[in-house]
Amino acid sequence: MIIFGASGDLTKRKLMPALYTLYKDGRLPDGFIVIGIGRTEYEDDTYRAYIRQELERFVAPEEQMEETMADFSKRLHYLTLNPADAGEYGKLDARLQELTGGEEPDNLLFYLATPPSLYGVIPLHLKAAHLNRPRTRIVVEKPFGYDLKSARELNHIYASVFEEHQIYRIDHFLGKETAQNILAFRFANGIFEPLWNRNYIDYVESTAVENLGIEQRGGFYEGTGALRDMVQNHLIQLVALTALEPPAVFNADNFRNEVVKVYESLTPLTEEDLNEHIVRGQYTASATKNGYREEKNVAPDSRTETYIAMKIGIENWRWNGVPFYIRTGKQMPTKVTEIVVHFRETPHQMFRCEGGHCPRANKLILRLQPNEDIVLKFGMKAPGPGFDVKQVMMDFSYSDLGGLPTGDAYARLIEDCIQGDQTLFTRSDAVEASWRFFDPVLRYWKEHPEAPLYGYPVGTWGPLESEAMMHEHGADWTNPCKNLTNTDEYCEL
Ligand code: BG6
Repeated sequence: MIIFGASGDLTKRKLMPALYTLYKDGRLPDGFIVIGIGRTEYEDDTYRAYIRQELERFVAPEEQMEETMADFSKRLHYLTLNPADAGEYGKLDARLQELTGGEEPDNLLFYLATPPSLYGVIPLHLKAAHLNRPRTRIVVEKPFGYDLKSARELNHIYASVFEEHQIYRIDHFLGKETAQNILAFRFANGIFEPLWNRNYIDYVESTAVENLGIEQRGGFYEGTGALRDMVQNHLIQLVALTALEPPAVFNADNFRNEVVKVYESLTPLTEEDLNEHIVRGQYTASATKNGYREEKNVAPDSRTETYIAMKIGIENWRWNGVPFYIRTGKQMPTKVTEIVVHFRETPHQMFRCEGGHCPRANKLILRLQPNEDIVLKFGMKAPGPGFDVKQVMMDFSYSDLGGLPTGDAYARLIEDCIQGDQTLFTRSDAVEASWRFFDPVLRYWKEHPEAPLYGYPVGTWGPLESEAMMHEHGADWTNPCKNLTNTDEYCEL
């Protein structure tokens, strides 16, 4: 495995901990080695020391860790190389041959953990250096393109170097056990699927918010923003998982065909939608925390969005008329990723309700993180005299199963690349279909610099305008409590 961007943030936070977990669990093939590539100067031993130090920060401590890490780090190598310079790739070829003892090793897995500006450059240099060999695979991080045009250009470049079956466009949300479980929940249970359509579902919310800012990533985020960072990929994937049709047989092609069908059914955004059904925001300072514009490497007059809420529609038989509300934001009160399915109200309420508040609709919450669980809210008779009804919850928590398996989304996805399973990776047509839908948003913001960008103080649930968007549907966003510790704390603020 050859990691471009080996001295960067993603490598230390996600890739190395994932590889370490795979190694520790005996899930890496014999003879597996990593060559880290970057411009920062390291020798093998200094790179190993650096990674060991970082692993101690990012991997939960356990028994015999010292020994396992020492073994794991023997598999790590480093090559100082500027990935933008075609002339340097000969060094990589030479190093590969030296390390594998092979004439021309071809079972190579390239991982692009670099700034997106290099995504189009590296494959061409690999081709020029004849490193695009038949058994080679390449993994590319998101965002894949900045808009539809650049995504098409990138697809074109990749297709000129690799076959589609060699290209793994990663979206780590799909690597999450809980995201995959949406499919199992829907299609392994006879009781929900008949209700999973416009006849019984009123609207759906998908939320992926965080209580952190952009940390040290100002430079990256300024050119990206929430739409490219979270919406065009992660959030729309969640919509696809919630909305897609069951394939007859579950395999990579069939599953990915269904994802594309959802993207192609998204109701194109009109001028009115762009005006009224999208709220973009940017966090502003609180008493103790910086606002976005005060962050390092961020322009003092930046109009980059750190929050988006949108209403989108899917035009097909199953979903016509059902709004899908999506939102993401940095510096919110808590970190949570969840899908809330709101079923239609009972046609008539014949009981009194406890406290005078009468929730008449069932709600299903699929929480992807943290406290991974599934909750169904339903009304029942409040014990005692009379016939008052109150809402209660039935819940399943992954912790009841002993928790999620070790290793996170990245471990699962890297293992899939090694095995050659593309199911959880984004195909070229899906990337383009998703961009086709979101491209008008970017264009609209570009052409209308006066389009509103609302401020929201750090630690709040985003601009009030996003509440207004929900009120139009006669509803409020489902906001979990601030400090999630267990399912009892599902509450609406
Ligand atoms: C990444 C984004 O893809 O996903 C980050 O670039 C974001 O900005 C992260 O913080 C969220 O992922 P997770 O798995 O922590 O919810």
